[in-house]
Amino acid sequence: MIRLDRVSKSFNGLPVFSGLSLMVHPGEVVGLVGPSGAGKTTLLRLIAGLTRPDSGIVTTAGSRLSYVFQEARLLPWRTALENVVVALRAAGFNQADARNEARLWLKRVGLAQFADYYPAQLSGGMQQRVALARAFAVHPDVLLLDEPFSHLDDGHKQELRDILRRLIRETGVTVVYVTHALPELDGLASSILYLSGGGLVHNLVRREDVVIPTPAGINTAS
Ligand SMILES: Nc1ncnc2c1ncn2[C@@H]1O[C@H](COP(=O)(O)OP(=O)(O)OP(=O)(O)O)[C@@H](O)[C@H]1O
Ligand SMILES: [Mg+2]
Repeated sequence: MIRLDRVSKSFNGLPVFSGLSLMVHPGEVVGLVGPSGAGKTTLLRLIAGLTRPDSGIVTTAGSRLSYVFQEARLLPWRTALENVVVALRAAGFNQADARNEARLWLKRVGLAQFADYYPAQLSGGMQQRVALARAFAVHPDVLLLDEPFSHLDDGHKQELRDILRRLIRETGVTVVYVTHALPELDGLASSILYLSGGGLVHNLVRREDVVIPTPAGINTAS
C-alpha cells in the first residue's frame, strides 16, 4: 500500500505538489501522465523515499520497492544473469537460490539464451527486459515505472508492453506507472492521474480516495 498524506514539495520556491493526498491499494495499477516538468518523477521519488516532502507524510508500510527507469541502468561489467543476481543477493537470497531465480526471470522475459551476455552485447529493448527481470525477481510489493519504454523503437515497445502487462497481471504487484503513451495503460490502470504542473493534480479516472486540493489563487479545470 502507498499512502501520501497532504504532501507538499517545492524546488526553489516553485511548488511541484501542494497538499496532495493519495492512496494506492495493494494490487492496484495507477497511471501517471502529464507534461514534462509536471512532477511525475518527483512523485515516484517521493514514494521511493529518494526525495523528502517539505511537509506531509509518505507511507509505504514496509513494502519492498522496485524502480524501473527510462534507461535500463544495468551494471556494464556484469552479465544479464549477474545483474539480476546482484539484486536478489541484496534482497537476501543466497547465491544458489539467486542464480536459479535469476535464470527463471530471464526466461520469463524471453532472455534465457542471453543470460551470459554483457549489457553492451544486448539491444536497448533486451537491456530493458533484463531491468524488468531484475525488478520483478525480488518479489516487490510495489513497482515504480518511470517511462520504461520511451527510449525504445515501436517494435520493441509493443513487445515490452506485452511482457510487462503479463508480469503485472501474474504477480498482482502494486504499480505506479509513468508514461507519455496512454495506450500503455489501456486495460491495466485502475486509475489515471494527470499532473499538470504547479502542484495541480487531476483525476482522469475518478476515485474517491484521491484528494485534490485547489491551491489558493489558481483555478483548476478538472
Ligand atoms: N533535484 C531537483 N532540483 C531542482 N528542481 C527539481 C529537482 N527535481 C525536479 N525538479 C523540478 O521539479 C519539477 C518536476 O520535475 P519532474 O522531474 O518530477 O518532472 P516530470 O513530470 O518527471 O518530467 P519529465 O516528463 O520531463 O520526466 C520540474 O520543474 C523540475 O525542474
Ligand atoms: Mg520524469
